[in-house]
Amino acid sequence: MANKGTVKIGIINVSDRASKGIYEDIPGKAILATLKEYLITSFEPVYRVIPDEEDQIAETMIHMADQEGCCLVVTSGGTGPAVRDVTPEATEAVCEKMVPGFGELMRAESLKYVPTAILSRQTAGIRGRTLIVNLPGKPKAIRECLDAVFPAIPYCIDLIEGPYLETDPKVMPVFRPRK
Ligand code: MTE
Repeated sequence: MANKGTVKIGIINVSDRASKGIYEDIPGKAILATLKEYLITSFEPVYRVIPDEEDQIAETMIHMADQEGCCLVVTSGGTGPAVRDVTPEATEAVCEKMVPGFGELMRAESLKYVPTAILSRQTAGIRGRTLIVNLPGKPKAIRECLDAVFPAIPYCIDLIEGPYLETDPKVMPVFRPRK
């Protein structure tokens, strides 16, 4: 199935230190590399590294959804209980619908690796025709979490009338209950 126009995917690394250049932006690069591995649909990444400021995170999500028309926005970091962690709050503030199954599955999967998985408040939600998904900031966690939830993402994007995303079935088999 052909998509009209460019398929855009937003990647937001939420990190005070990466945004100041103190840390290298490894999580954002890990998300992009993973999505490129999964998807055979070509897409244009819309990429930002921003500090843990709720207003700035919300504004960036709104811009990616409403102006850029991203069908998917993936964030990394700021999901924990620390004082500066506010990514889930920004996600809830900009979404019309929350999809709690994403957070539930990612935490369940992450518990196989670390007992501190329960500290992540990561969630997902829908703004218009954009699905927003939070991931923890650790690069290892990014792959663990995306591998768990990505099988449901293309169908979720079908349901919100976004582009038809196709993956390499050998790398990331997706599930669509009906074609
Ligand atoms: N999930 C996975 N898969 N792997 C991890 O190492 N780290 C946990 C949790 N989830 C982790 C994980 C820890 S230690 C924290 S504090 C929370 O994610 C929140 O991370 P964040 O604030 O970087 O988003």
